[in-house]
Amino acid sequence: MPYDPGKMPQVSRHVFVCTAELCAGRGSEATYRALKKQVKQHAGLEGVWVNRSGSVGGCQHGPLVVIYPEGVWYYGVTEARVPELIRRHLIGGEVIEAWRFHQTEGCPCMPPAGGE
Ligand code: FES
Repeated sequence: MPYDPGKMPQVSRHVFVCTAELCAGRGSEATYRALKKQVKQHAGLEGVWVNRSGSVGGCQHGPLVVIYPEGVWYYGVTEARVPELIRRHLIGGEVIEAWRFHQTEGCPCMPPAGGE
């Protein structure tokens, strides 16, 4: 099937939840399912994609969640923290400093947050 960029969905943010062994042992599958479900329930978050990932590092501090294009890595993102993550970061655009584990320069495959 040929690639047709016009048929590709628009992605405003991409959220990766590590579900590798150590994060899974701290409940990351529940975090992933809650994020996936609650993001779908919020109007205006249609462009937010939530996916599982393999280990991203920081395994002792999981569940780890990485959000692009900001390139923010959050630690300790349990299911209970999902509503606050959605409200503050995905809706409010705030980097939650108290949970930040690491931050990269973003992702070259995505435009800057709020950009075209
Ligand atoms: S197991 Fe999740 S960061 Fe390594």
